[in-house]
Amino acid sequence: MEKLKKIAAVTATQYVKDGMVVGLGTGSTAYYFVEEIGRRVQEEGLQIIGVTTSSRTTAQAESLGIPLKAVDDIDIIDVTVDGADEVDPDFNGIKGGGGALLMEKIVATPTKNYIWVVDESKMVEKLGAFKLPVEVVQYGAERIFREFAAKGYKPSFREYDGVRFVTDMKNFIIDLDLGVIDNPVEFGKELKAMTGVVDHGLFTGMVNKVIVAGKDGVKVLERP
Ligand code: A5P
Repeated sequence: MEKLKKIAAVTATQYVKDGMVVGLGTGSTAYYFVEEIGRRVQEEGLQIIGVTTSSRTTAQAESLGIPLKAVDDIDIIDVTVDGADEVDPDFNGIKGGGGALLMEKIVATPTKNYIWVVDESKMVEKLGAFKLPVEVVQYGAERIFREFAAKGYKPSFREYDGVRFVTDMKNFIIDLDLGVIDNPVEFGKELKAMTGVVDHGLFTGMVNKVIVAGKDGVKVLERP
């Protein structure tokens, strides 16, 4: 699996050229992309500006000597490469398994060429088997949790080692165990309309390419 993640991530580096502003994703697959970009900066003198999607990726990029800018200091990002937790045939996806969905969506939004890198296990017919992360402000989070529970969304607060997880943006994550999400666009709108919800892990109509590595090779899927 690690090998496939690395193959997908390294394949994506072909879309990065001198002079570009490059969004650097978060997670175990995007890690390999950032690593390869760092290698090209150091060994080949690649000239790019990176924009990161989490404090973890910032630390990795800095350790590799990749020049960075804040998302507020750029207008357009030429290409962003990130992982995903699930991708459906309509190029909708779930992200946020690593808890960075908000920064990831903020960086994805001004991106011209938004690319996901995944191993083939992430490709699904319907989204929802992976628990959908929803980022909520801390104030009133218990009330939102109860509302999700009442709607049958089987919520759980994201915790690591028994401690409630706080995102880089200082919010909580509530994961929804939905099984199947029949209409990701509409469901995303429903979530976004709830006061206290900052954003959610449904990324619809955003990605341009999905690079999928599998045992039979690498496929580059282009959104029509
Ligand atoms: C981080 O919050 C996520 O959106 C990741 O991009 C996503 O969870 C995929 O991560 P892996 O590449 O580690 O599976």
